[in-house]
Amino acid sequence: SATATSSPQDFFTVDSPNVKYTDDKIESKYVYRTTAVTKGADGKYKAAPKETVYDFQVDRKVPRTGMMLVGWGGNNGSTVTAGIIANRRNLAWDTREGPRAANYYGSVIMGSTMKLGTDAETAEEINIPFHNVLPMVHPNDLVVGGWDISSMNIAAAMDRAQVLEPTLKAQVYKEMSQMKPLPSIYYPDFIAANQGDRADNVLPGSKACMAHVEQIRKDISDFKAQNNLDKVIVMWTANTERYADIIPGVNDTAENLMKAIETGHEEVSPSTVFSVACILDKVPFINGSPQNTFVPGAIDLAEKHGAFIGGDDFKSGQTKMKSALVDFLINAGIKLTSISSYNHLGNNDGKNLSSQKQFRSKEISKSNVVDDMVAANSVLYKKDEHPDHCVVIKYMPAVGDNKRALDEYYAEIFLGGHQTISIFNVCEDSLLASPLIIDLVVVAEMMTRISWKSEAAGDYKGFHSVLSILSYMLKAPLTPPGTPVVNALAKQRSALTNIFRACVGLQPESDMTLEHKLF
Ligand code: NAI
Repeated sequence: SATATSSPQDFFTVDSPNVKYTDDKIESKYVYRTTAVTKGADGKYKAAPKETVYDFQVDRKVPRTGMMLVGWGGNNGSTVTAGIIANRRNLAWDTREGPRAANYYGSVIMGSTMKLGTDAETAEEINIPFHNVLPMVHPNDLVVGGWDISSMNIAAAMDRAQVLEPTLKAQVYKEMSQMKPLPSIYYPDFIAANQGDRADNVLPGSKACMAHVEQIRKDISDFKAQNNLDKVIVMWTANTERYADIIPGVNDTAENLMKAIETGHEEVSPSTVFSVACILDKVPFINGSPQNTFVPGAIDLAEKHGAFIGGDDFKSGQTKMKSALVDFLINAGIKLTSISSYNHLGNNDGKNLSSQKQFRSKEISKSNVVDDMVAANSVLYKKDEHPDHCVVIKYMPAVGDNKRALDEYYAEIFLGGHQTISIFNVCEDSLLASPLIIDLVVVAEMMTRISWKSEAAGDYKGFHSVLSILSYMLKAPLTPPGTPVVNALAKQRSALTNIFRACVGLQPESDMTLEHKLF
């Protein structure tokens, strides 16, 4: 078909004694160079270059992959589905601004490039599509399915979302009207009461139970069989839930969490039940909403099963700007002293967030996003000093999915002066989130095909269960227990880029360009 995935061999191969290509694998030996710092008795730092040798192995066979969305009938779910179909069928449609054609703008994997190196003769930069760095799944090839507590078919759900142009909808309508979400788990206490009237497609039972876990596992394996898939990735893009209380003996360990589900404990959320079902079958599960789906017991369970999990909360609009702008300000030596963030939106997400407990989840997720950048600068900030930071979200039905984010950044500059930056960001929320869903799925799937070993750790194995490599796409990145969170956008992107480079034996892109400076 016109949408066949291209293999990276078509694009580039690495010519190095440390890199080997076989029919089904790329193998590389990679020297990871870091700096180990110690503090001496005199209080001074000593920095020592450190080298660790890793072997990476990439499975080259691109699997037939399914993407199952929890909340498939929502704005994001219906929009990403229509977007994939439009791209797969290469559609064009008329708008009042003229014809538009399907694209993947806003996806870092499909819409951005990576510098491969410099041309050996002309010294020109050679940039390649990010998608071609490793043999990744092409989003056009994803088979889409999922669950929703609302029974509406996905074409009707797309109408309800009020996001896409009628001329585009008309072309995908028939195909999407055949798509019906599976009945889902609904525990009314976890989402806003104002969602109750759409919950007409639910499994019996209103608190956690093993029957729910087993039903979700069955749904996934049926979907896999029906569509002849090698692999499935599950993504939570359903309503934001309230936080679950962390209760010792209930959700603090894997064992306790399983017991809590068996005994129907009321603090186990639907999203946690979904995550448990996925973990048990090693199906990667990503949480696109802000709630604490991954209670300590769920993380523990994922580690025990070697299953991949990732989260939390898509980083689409305001926070993405924040994690780029604050990174820039603080690294420019400008002392940011306050951030005031106001949002209003009129879609169903906004309606759900108009309820206090659900808003609280979002507030927490949006609040800690500058901490690492502040903590890294001891010149501007004393220990534990933070800029003031406030986040407000209001439901304004009339603006629909066209979310407004108003931010004021207030900073102290040279000799007590001030700088105020005001940003008014308006965009269709689901058109920002949909490409992130694609990136999360494509990268998570890729990570299931990368393994590593070192001299210290004998045989090939996978990355840690908590996929912090997904951080670029997420507002409150989940990291392996005890490891630091990185929110700075540029750092997140280089982690993603350079880990993928390492897998094919290439050094990180350092931007030193000494070849243009030393001659
Ligand atoms: P939406 O409200 O349009 O869609 C959510 C869907 O989930 C609805 O169709 C609802 O019926 C369904 N649902 C609720 N509980 C469910 C359950 N237990 N099982 C299955 N389905 C269930 O919301 P939208 O705009 O699609 O956003 C989805 C989520 O993504 C929200 O939590 C939102 O906070 C989060 N998010 C969205 C961003 C964006 O830019 N659109 C950015 C960051 C996060």
